Amino acid sequence: MGWFFRLGARPILAVQDSEKAHYRAIRKIKLLGRWKITRVFLSGFFSSPTLNVERFGIKFSNPVGLAAGMDKKAEALTAWPALGFGFAEVGGVTLHEQQGNPKPRMFRNWNSRSLINRMGFNNDGADKTAKRMLKVKENGNWPNIPIAINLGKSKITENENAAEDYCGSIEKLWEFADFFVVNVSSPNTPNLRDLQTDEHLAGLLERCIQQNKKCAEEHGAKEKPILVKVAPDLEDEQLAIIARTARSSGLSGIVATNTTISRPEINTKSGKKFTKETGGLSGKPLGKRSTEVIRLIYQETEGQLPIIGVGGISNADDAWEKIINGACLVQFYSAFVFEGPTITKSIVKGLKKKLKQHSLDSLDQAVGMAVNVR
Ligand SMILES: Cc1cc2nc3c(=O)[nH]c(=O)nc-3n(C[C@H](O)[C@H](O)[C@H](O)COP(=O)(O)O)c2cc1C
Repeated sequence: MGWFFRLGARPILAVQDSEKAHYRAIRKIKLLGRWKITRVFLSGFFSSPTLNVERFGIKFSNPVGLAAGMDKKAEALTAWPALGFGFAEVGGVTLHEQQGNPKPRMFRNWNSRSLINRMGFNNDGADKTAKRMLKVKENGNWPNIPIAINLGKSKITENENAAEDYCGSIEKLWEFADFFVVNVSSPNTPNLRDLQTDEHLAGLLERCIQQNKKCAEEHGAKEKPILVKVAPDLEDEQLAIIARTARSSGLSGIVATNTTISRPEINTKSGKKFTKETGGLSGKPLGKRSTEVIRLIYQETEGQLPIIGVGGISNADDAWEKIINGACLVQFYSAFVFEGPTITKSIVKGLKKKLKQHSLDSLDQAVGMAVNVR
């Protein structure tokens, strides 16, 4: 099936506008995920072997997840398990519906296997997203994998009111999330990344945790794990402070990393044009820094805080690198665009092989294997 994508779909996708190609793909995935029979068909090609992991009280049948941004509107929920994912992060969702930045705002560079996007949190807002998710629940089609909801801040909300915005979304979406990811690291909403500073972050996380408690009481259920997603462009010292803040606030983990505003050198005419686009860069060139960030957080938290590793993963070797440097779960976005849907299964299979090669019984034994914790 991988060959089908490489020889058939990829050349067609390559000549299409990036965002149009994305929505065409999402529409097809959504359609194929709608009926049991088509889901069974998808599973036949794409389902992953089991590789159990348990973190922050949630069981994952494999550690490979879909990263935020691919299913911003939670439209294709039912399809992600059939495509082999062990979990899926939908969103970013903001409290208010918003259009995002003017188009074009998504760019691909096939040679470097990277994307630049300045989408600006285009999404349906928390209310509409909650209604859509409720419908899936009511229809009895709820996916059998953990679903994370990525939360962004609405553009119209000033940073000093950010907590209300995030908490409003938590309240509306609470019952649909297995866990939440508070995204303070997208480069495409003005000043959003300032929320990563110590001055803002501790207060914001505390408010999210309080909102979570309130929702749990109202629903007579357990609190949902909350994680924070960080940028790769922070100085190491800033990252260390965030790691300490996350741990002391009682967060369940860190997602590392979001896209980068730095640019690789690409010495082709199209590459030079590509790197001039503003926005966040994802894919292959992000891999090294994202792994460094994972390692740093793992060291700083003495391996005690779960890390979801994301950035530049396109095969089992990349995923393994993230895991041995401290990630207990991994995700990707760009590789889905460049490598197609067989990538998930192939990464899980590859990870199982790695465990065998290292004579390890479980993924837990591999997490942080390459890091000396003080
Ligand atoms: C088009 C696009 C939209 C994205 N939207 C979000 C988002 O809404 N929230 C978020 O936290 N990350 C978002 N991301 C970042 C990804 O979740 C991921 O952190 C990043 O792309 C690095 O992973 P990759 O190299 O596997 O793509 C987006 C990425 C892309 C390419």
